Amino acid sequence: MKRLYLSPPDLDGRERELILEAYESNWITTLGPQVDAFEHDICEHIGVSYAAALSSGTAALHLALLLSGVKQGDEVLCSTFTFAASANPITYCGASPVFIDSNAATWNMDPLLLEEELQSCRKKGKLPRALVVVDLYGQCADYDPILKVCDEYGVPVIADAAEALGATYKGKFAGTFGKMGVLSFNGNKIITTSGGGMLVSSNKEFIESARFLATQARDAAPHYQHSHIGYNYRLSNILAAMGRGQLENLDKKIAHRKAINKFYRESLSDISGIDFMPIASYGKPNYWLTCITVDPLQSKVTNEDIRLKLEKENIESRPLWKPMHLQPIFQSCRVRGGAVTEKLFAEGLCLPSGSGMMVSDQQRVVDILRKICSFP
Ligand SMILES: Cc1ncc(COP(=O)(O)O)c(C=O)c1O
Repeated sequence: MKRLYLSPPDLDGRERELILEAYESNWITTLGPQVDAFEHDICEHIGVSYAAALSSGTAALHLALLLSGVKQGDEVLCSTFTFAASANPITYCGASPVFIDSNAATWNMDPLLLEEELQSCRKKGKLPRALVVVDLYGQCADYDPILKVCDEYGVPVIADAAEALGATYKGKFAGTFGKMGVLSFNGNKIITTSGGGMLVSSNKEFIESARFLATQARDAAPHYQHSHIGYNYRLSNILAAMGRGQLENLDKKIAHRKAINKFYRESLSDISGIDFMPIASYGKPNYWLTCITVDPLQSKVTNEDIRLKLEKENIESRPLWKPMHLQPIFQSCRVRGGAVTEKLFAEGLCLPSGSGMMVSDQQRVVDILRKICSFP
C-alpha cells in the first residue's frame, strides 16, 4: 500500500513552466521578476498593500518582532497551541515568551485570558512588547476582541498566519490583521515553495525595512558598509516562481481540503467519542489539516492507538501540537491558563489532508478508523 502523508506538496499547475522561465532568464538568486511578481500576487490575493518574500515563515516572524522593537529582556505574548516556530524567534531577540491558552470553541487564543494577562502585566508595571497570535490549523483567531484589547494596552499584534493562507475572518483574509502578518510556504503548507515565507503589512516602512534587514542590511554605499546587523532571509527567484504557480490554484486546493474535511466528518459522525475541530461562525478556514479528538472513555481507544494503527497501515497521522508551555525549552516561561490545550494535546490527532488525496485514500483512512473503533 502506498504511503499516505499528512500534507505533502501538491504541484498541479504552471509551477514547472514558471520555474523554467526563471531558469532561462538567469534570474536564479534572491531577487528577480518572479520574486516581485510573487509579492504582488500575494498582495492581490489577500488584499494587503505590501509584502516581502522571505526564506521562511520563521524568518518573517523574526523580522516582524525586530520591527516591533522587541529587545533583550522584553516579554512577548504568544499562543501556546502552535508549532515552536511561532515562539522561537522571540528568543532570537533575547526576549521571553509568555504563553496564552486557547478556548475550546475555536482552539485558538482565548481573548479573555489575553485580557487577564494584560491586566496582570499592567499591575506589575511591565507590558509585553508584542503579541504573536496564531491562526491554528487553517482557522483564524478571533481578531476583533484581540485587536481591541491590544489596542487599549498599546501592544502591537503580529498575526502568525503560517497555516492559514486563504482563510478569512469576517470576510478579511488571514495575515491582514494587526501590524504585520506572516505566511509560510513550507513543504507541508497549503501552497509551498519547498521552503519560504512572506511578511505582509499595510505599512510600507515595515516592508522596506524587512527587505533591508533580509539582505544583510547593506547601507547605501558603493562598498560594503553596515550600520545594522542584517540577515540572509530573502526568497530565491526560482522558488518564487514555484510559489506563483501554486498560488494560482489556491482556491482549488482549499476546496479540495474542505471536501476532505466533509468526507471525514460525514464518514465518522456516528462514532461516539470522536469529535472534530470546531469551525467558528466568524470566518472560513482553509481546512489545512483535518483534526479530531478522541475521548477514550467513549470510544474505548486513544488517539495514540489510532495513530499506531494508521502507521502500521503506512498512513501518517500526528498528535496535535504539544503546547509550548509543556515544551522542555520553554518550561521556565509563564503561561496563562493551559488546561484546554493540554486536553487537546492528550486527545487530538491530525489526519491526512493533502489536496492531492483521492477519495479512495480517504476511504482507506476512514475504514481503519471505523474498524479500530468498532473492535478496539
Ligand atoms: C504556526 C506556524 N508558525 C510558523 C511556522 C514557520 O514557518 P516556516 O516553516 O516557513 O519557517 C509554521 C510552520 O512551519 C507554523 O505552523
